[in-house]
Amino acid sequence: MSKILFINACVRKESRTLALAREIAKQLQGEITEVNLEREQLAPLTEQTLSEREALLKNGEYGAPMLRYARQFAEADEIVIAAPYWDLGFPALLKCYIEQICAIGVTFAYPEGKPQGLCRARRLSYVTTAGGKIVHDFGYAYVKALANTFFGIGDTVCFRAEDLDYTPITAENVVDAAAVTVIK
Ligand SMILES: Cc1cc2nc3c(=O)[nH]c(=O)nc-3n(C[C@H](O)[C@H](O)[C@H](O)COP(=O)(O)O)c2cc1C
Repeated sequence: MSKILFINACVRKESRTLALAREIAKQLQGEITEVNLEREQLAPLTEQTLSEREALLKNGEYGAPMLRYARQFAEADEIVIAAPYWDLGFPALLKCYIEQICAIGVTFAYPEGKPQGLCRARRLSYVTTAGGKIVHDFGYAYVKALANTFFGIGDTVCFRAEDLDYTPITAENVVDAAAVTVIK
């Protein structure tokens, strides 16, 4: 069965992004595994954790617990990221997660000064909702660049609903009431 990795970077309890992303994930064929970033002990890489990780990667200790997010990401057949549009991008929690998955030897290789993807996923879907208009899309654009350049995931798609803070759109009615734009 196809393995769908659902990365939940939503913060609010009544998150409309999460409701929309769950509906989109439901349409996919496969078994969904969710990583709720708020429940993980995610932190930015520090001098200590970075050197620990570099030592693991240098020694090829890819089974180490510290590399679990990267392994899980690399092994998924399909990826869905749910992240609200915050400060023209996404919540910092997602950046902490991205630091964890950008691991050389697990999600990508760097053989001749050029990244080479090691991820299995054939597609990455990014779901976001915004209070106003998404004018500068630093969230999806960044994730797409990583997927295409580092991870070797060529097919990326963004589902987005805008202007939600000026309409009575809630987590309960977002699937039926929001206008969703699909961007490649
Ligand atoms: C910390 C924070 C930053 C935000 N930044 C933006 C922004 O830059 N542009 C915008 O249009 N809306 C912004 N919003 C509004 C959210 O994008 C909007 O409410 C979105 O639908 C939240 O998704 P949620 O319902 O899943 O929490 C921000 C909201 C928060 C809480």
